[in-house]
Amino acid sequence: MGRVAAVILAAGKGTRMRSQLPKVLHKVAGKYLIQHVLDTCKKLLVDKIIIIVGHQGELVQEKIGQGPIYAWQREQLGTGHAVLQAGDFITEDVETVLLVCGDTPLLTADTLQNLLEMHQGQGAAATVLTTCMPDPTGYGRIVRDDRNEVVRIVEQKDATPEELAIQEINSGSYCFNARHLKEALLQIRPDNAQGEYYLTDVIAVFKQQGLKVLAYETEDPEEIAGINSRIQLAQAEAVFRRRINEKLMGQGVTILDPGNTYIEGDVQIAPDTVIYPYTFLQGRTVIGRECEIGPNCTIKDSTIAAGVTVTHSVIVESEIGENCQIGPYSYLRPGTRLGRGVKVGDFVELKKTVVGEGSKIPHLSYIGDAVVGQKVNIGAGTITCNYDGKNKWLTEIEDGAFIGSNSNLVAPVKVERNAYVAAGSTITENVPAGALGVARGRQANIPGWVKEKKKQLEEK
Ligand code: UD1
Ligand code: CA
Repeated sequence: MGRVAAVILAAGKGTRMRSQLPKVLHKVAGKYLIQHVLDTCKKLLVDKIIIIVGHQGELVQEKIGQGPIYAWQREQLGTGHAVLQAGDFITEDVETVLLVCGDTPLLTADTLQNLLEMHQGQGAAATVLTTCMPDPTGYGRIVRDDRNEVVRIVEQKDATPEELAIQEINSGSYCFNARHLKEALLQIRPDNAQGEYYLTDVIAVFKQQGLKVLAYETEDPEEIAGINSRIQLAQAEAVFRRRINEKLMGQGVTILDPGNTYIEGDVQIAPDTVIYPYTFLQGRTVIGRECEIGPNCTIKDSTIAAGVTVTHSVIVESEIGENCQIGPYSYLRPGTRLGRGVKVGDFVELKKTVVGEGSKIPHLSYIGDAVVGQKVNIGAGTITCNYDGKNKWLTEIEDGAFIGSNSNLVAPVKVERNAYVAAGSTITENVPAGALGVARGRQANIPGWVKEKKKQLEEK
């Protein structure tokens, strides 16, 4: 069997989005619209993927990166004209073109696979993915003859009232015989309401040539939705949210309020973890078993081991060991690594800091560029002064150390094993193992001072 090339149309501006961004670079479920389509095509193991770029094409290329072939459509003269631009890359060895629009992120690989199999199995010139929509407004309609065969596709703007009543719509995904497609594209004309070269017109061309045109009708109109407006973008977001949350629940994750839990597609969560509302899990986040996450957490590109509790907190690019307790109101910035059983409490910010097993940073601290050992206790209000205005310096706090409240640790500095820092100290030199570091003014009490002061004020 000949090769399969996937062509993704992404040159349009997306006027109806009313945006500076090209339409296909709007995001849904944390991913560009076109990235969803591209990832789906990759699952099908097609031989090559060609993306047609045009409006802000450099930006699309930059965001999607290397891998696919980019073909340029300099002027956006319609979907038919767009496909024509792929011509050079649809080489002799390509038998089948799988065509999808860059604005249909909900399409599944299963559906496209079925479309491809039907097309190849029956040797059609074209197979159109269709569905019946209760409200078909905006889509091209599938016109069938009295033998129920597809004869053409008519766009909303060109349709007669009878055609507008047709509920079967063109999804914008198709399979084509490559050779027939290339020939038919040369025959279409922009003689329609929008003055564009419509890809959909090739269907009528095939019919006139007596070639076989099929429709693969899916039951699920939800998958087909093309995103043309912000309203449709929000609707797609809701569909993704439901798909992702239902998949996770199926895998044994408890989600209290799936409508208000925002998990991106690549996040992994082990069974018996509970996710509370208003939680955002993003990027390549991985969460272990029996965790309690939320409410009100954002966790991005982080790994959370089993048995961890996180409430009202933000964690970015960090690794959290088993049975840690985080929050409420903790902020863990990139490069934070917590060992087992660490407690990080309210209003604590950690950055590029490694914390050993069983250590506690319970409240009101900033610890950045630090290595903290095991069983360390860091008192409220401790700050690592890691930045001298030019460079960042390391603070080391060794196993068993105790940092008194409201201390400043001026880096580079080291508090050695089992040493203590007295509350209110500004530590600028290393504190040796087992020693007490005190660095603050001595207290002086002046007896009878208050009474004397009051007397002076009364005499005035
Ligand atoms: C298109 C179909 C319609 C179908 C619908 C499904 C045509 C003429 N109509 O309509 O039958 O029901 O999709 O969602 O094909 N694009 C280009 N270059 C252009 C024009 C468009 O690359 O010159 C790209 C767009 O970036 C987009 C895709 O083609 O990704 C579809 O274009 P769009 O304008 O959204 O087509 P629809 O009007 O939705
Ligand atoms: Ca569209």
